[in-house]
Amino acid sequence: MTAKRPRQIHLGCFPIHLGGNVGAWRHPEVQANGSTDLQWVLNLARIAEAGKLDLLFVADSTYASENSTPFDINHFEPITILSACAAVTRHIGVVATMSTSYSQPFTTARQIASLDKLSGGRAAWNAVTSSNASVARNYSGDKLMEHDHRYRIAREYIEVVKGLWDSWEDDAFPRDKQAGVYFDASKMHRLNHVGEFFKVQGPLNIERSPQGQPVIFQAGASEAGRDLAARHADAVFSNRETIDECRLYTADLRARAARYGRPADEFLVMPVITPIVGGTEEEARRRARELNEMLDPKTALSFLSRYFSSFDFWSYDLDAPVPDLSGIVSDANRSSAEYLMRIAREEKLTLRQLAYRAAAPRKDFTGTPEQIADRLQLYFETQACDGFMMATDISPRGLSAVTEHVVPILQKRGLFRTEYEGTTLRDHLGLSHPESRYVARPSPAVA
Ligand SMILES: Cc1cc2nc3c(=O)[nH]c(=O)nc-3n(C[C@H](O)[C@H](O)[C@H](O)COP(=O)(O)O)c2cc1C
Repeated sequence: MTAKRPRQIHLGCFPIHLGGNVGAWRHPEVQANGSTDLQWVLNLARIAEAGKLDLLFVADSTYASENSTPFDINHFEPITILSACAAVTRHIGVVATMSTSYSQPFTTARQIASLDKLSGGRAAWNAVTSSNASVARNYSGDKLMEHDHRYRIAREYIEVVKGLWDSWEDDAFPRDKQAGVYFDASKMHRLNHVGEFFKVQGPLNIERSPQGQPVIFQAGASEAGRDLAARHADAVFSNRETIDECRLYTADLRARAARYGRPADEFLVMPVITPIVGGTEEEARRRARELNEMLDPKTALSFLSRYFSSFDFWSYDLDAPVPDLSGIVSDANRSSAEYLMRIAREEKLTLRQLAYRAAAPRKDFTGTPEQIADRLQLYFETQACDGFMMATDISPRGLSAVTEHVVPILQKRGLFRTEYEGTTLRDHLGLSHPESRYVARPSPAVA
């Protein structure tokens, strides 16, 4: 296990997103088909690695409709595009989103383990429960599964995947041509899992991960979501809006993880932000305005409806108060839907205002490189988080602005790596390489 290093900021980005809001495709500087153009995505992956970022994250949803956002309606599937990114990079991590509600654990375990193997131990899985009824209708379902039921499935699902990732011990494949021994059956472990939702024999038909186990990300913030994260996630994405909300959320998650016996530094929290960099503050604000002018009401409503299981907002008066959606909130994207309904009530927002609030990036990371570095440092040093998932105003320009102007300031302040440590994503994130559950641990030396 790598010796623990001083705590530093972790940074990730979205290589197939066109920009900081779902209207970014209309920006004159944006290649509108970037989310399905291999060379465009590989260019972003290379920019991110040149900036020494920790990871590339590909979000995903498995549905589309005439009311979908431009991103949701047309983009690469995560494993496919991240395998291509891994082939043209050497260090940066690759995080693929896959659903625990509409897929099988054996397939997910195998796909993530394969991405991990071909990338030399740089893979991670963002485990989502798919909070949209439209997804269910693509998987022989009619309606969205009940919220907490999705999480019960997710918990068993993740336990099966982690069990399958322990199918083989590190040295299970001697490939001894002389002796004709390709693998050592004594180092193979069948899972024989029989649970409430899954029955999985195993073993997985790919050898053990170079990082022990791929990294697990999660992003649910409801009670069930936080419990699942505290049990199994190595890192959590969040969309908390303010520094105080981030501090509360991080402290709560760390306390829950500690209750499951997990050391605080083995659990990372990374809120999503949209740094908008300008040579001057005014220039940065102008860029933020430009970006938001790209957002039309229909697209902003599409973005809002994602949080409410594709609820049909289009038949409502945009300039009237937000309709009561309490009936939908419970099974949809619960934490975000509850949050949006609360601010709509408290701030007496119209539907148009709420849609733009949800779709437009938060403003507190808009400014000069120094101002943004100060903000990142403040969040990090006051334990609001351990790092950030960065959307950028427009891609690739916005990402280059961060890697060329903000990252060097963080490096000078000793807050961010100047070189990649180790070779695996766990090394970059300062996370230990988990041992196989079947390998006897040396008993601690008796004093
Ligand atoms: C930063 C972030 C990224 C997310 N990415 C995805 C995604 O790619 N696909 C998806 O289906 N859900 C995604 N989600 C939604 C979460 O998985 C989860 O459904 C949502 O946060 C609601 O969780 P809750 O019901 O526990 O409150 C994301 C959420 C956040 C905060």
